[in-house]
Amino acid sequence: PIVKELFGLSDLEEEVRRAFGLKRVIVVPGDSDESDHVKLELGRAGGRVLRDSLSSGDVVAVMGGSTMAHMARHFSIPSQMKENWFVPARGGLGESVDYQANTIASELAKRAGARYRMLHVPDHLSEEAYQTIMQEPNVGEVVDMIRSARIVVHGIGDAVTMARRRKLTEETRDELVKDGALAEAFGYYFDRQGKVVHRMATVGLRLEDIEAAEHVIGIAGGASKGEAIAAVMRFGHDDVLVTDEAAAREALRHI
Ligand code: BG6
Repeated sequence: PIVKELFGLSDLEEEVRRAFGLKRVIVVPGDSDESDHVKLELGRAGGRVLRDSLSSGDVVAVMGGSTMAHMARHFSIPSQMKENWFVPARGGLGESVDYQANTIASELAKRAGARYRMLHVPDHLSEEAYQTIMQEPNVGEVVDMIRSARIVVHGIGDAVTMARRRKLTEETRDELVKDGALAEAFGYYFDRQGKVVHRMATVGLRLEDIEAAEHVIGIAGGASKGEAIAAVMRFGHDDVLVTDEAAAREALRHI
């Protein structure tokens, strides 16, 4: 708290909280774009928020990305949570292994002494393949569990950056820009107003599951993500935002 007062971050947290109607906002000092140390602190802060939110028996659905990976790598908990489950929120989204939701769910579960399930479903399924794969008992079971998650934890990305990272075709990328996509979170692309303009075809958490989840935690920082963060907060289903100073200030410029 002393450090926060020093940087005046409590005021900033409150300002962001009010601007986007959130329950809680945590702001760490600095800019993740400029420093890996800040990104690490962001991950740590995200881990603390998750730890405080957990209760016995919870199912936690997690997304992928480098910020989530930082969080998982440094997650710690005072006592084991054997009754809890960590599951990937969605199937593969074309990320490298370290950044995949499966990897992050298993890492968190190990650190929490909890259990996990994996979802091994490739991207870009045809409608027919999708129907077939969903009938696999194992897949169906995991998907049901994912959709029942009480807690959802996710990163937020800039739309164009994420479209590239996920190797969307140039045509789709152009379309996204034309539709005003600014942000990407949980496989959905959002415009300035927080309206969904595009979605990735993959198995797992749907928009209605995010709307229904009791506790949604967004973790994202760096000035370059400020506008994207504002767009996802406009979408309006996050309860908690964990961010850094640079992103918070930038997000406030886009309300
Ligand atoms: C993931 C989300 O958690 O984080 C994505 O599922 C988001 O939707 C991504 O875009 C951001 O990744 P990074 O590496 O910038 O933290």
